[in-house]
Amino acid sequence: MSLYYSKDDIQIHNQDNLELLKSLPENSINLIYCDILYNTGKVFDDYSDDLGNPEEAMEWYRPRITEMKRVLAENGSIFIHCNWRMDSYMRILMDEIFGTNCFRNRIYRQHSKERGFFANFDSQVDIILYYVKDHKSFVFHELRGESKRIVPLFENGVLEGRGDVRFFGEEKIDLKSMNKHWLISPAQFEDMIKAGEVQLINGLPYRFSNVIPVGNLWNEPEMLDTYTRTDTADAYDTPKPEGVLDRIIRIVTDPGDLVADFFLGGGTTAVVSKKLGRRFIGCDISEKACGVTVSKLEGLK
Ligand SMILES: C[S@@+](CC[C@H](N)C(=O)[O-])C[C@H]1O[C@@H](n2cnc3c(N)ncnc32)[C@H](O)[C@@H]1O
Repeated sequence: MSLYYSKDDIQIHNQDNLELLKSLPENSINLIYCDILYNTGKVFDDYSDDLGNPEEAMEWYRPRITEMKRVLAENGSIFIHCNWRMDSYMRILMDEIFGTNCFRNRIYRQHSKERGFFANFDSQVDIILYYVKDHKSFVFHELRGESKRIVPLFENGVLEGRGDVRFFGEEKIDLKSMNKHWLISPAQFEDMIKAGEVQLINGLPYRFSNVIPVGNLWNEPEMLDTYTRTDTADAYDTPKPEGVLDRIIRIVTDPGDLVADFFLGGGTTAVVSKKLGRRFIGCDISEKACGVTVSKLEGLK
């Protein structure tokens, strides 16, 4: 164990993440977020982003992702942040280790606009792969806002297992007979009815609520990389913006939960976890990264 910093429910370790992972208890972490090595071949101040060809990179990741699954809580979530170089390989590896039914989404995060590309489409997004340990039991808090909106609870086309007849009061809803299927489970539908959020329009079910639909394209200004913005500067080369972590942590954890980042870098995950009252464990092989993280944590009020 190489503990670098420990204070107020926050631990930072300066070592290879595989070593640390092996020493952690199973089923203990509510959320793992890792902004992994993208395998760009770039050399940074304190680490080299080069794991060989994609197959070699996958072999490097395999024991680490296997350990991450072991330490994740039974209802925990994991987000793997990568880009076009490794995303398909990581998807296959994650499917193999977590199971295809534990894949929840592929999030496209816009990191920049109008970079200096020539004779190609400008790559403006990176990818966050979102999995859960148990697809039947996981935390997902909907975000709520001021205004109400109406969204359909069905889609067109008959889908096996999604055409059951349900009731809203006296009204019978038979989506299959209308060539449609349910987007939500019977239990979710009952919860929405109890919350007074269901409305029928022309016999079809809609949800009328103040839930903010969060899509899988994250392109708001607070999602952009800080180097493309003029209002912030970072002591670390490749920081992710706080907006990304703020959204993830609020949606899949509760205050007091344990968040982990095993590719800590400049410590964005640590800083946002602390701001949101979550416990945190982080790891980086680079002493510089650990130092930058600790100075940011100490700078928080
Ligand atoms: C892309 S950066 C993470 C940036 C971070 N998300 C932020 O917001 O600042 C990846 C980090 O992984 C670290 N790293 C590389 N190999 C590692 C290993 N085997 N164990 C732990 N950390 C490692 C690097 O030192 C680097 O700081």
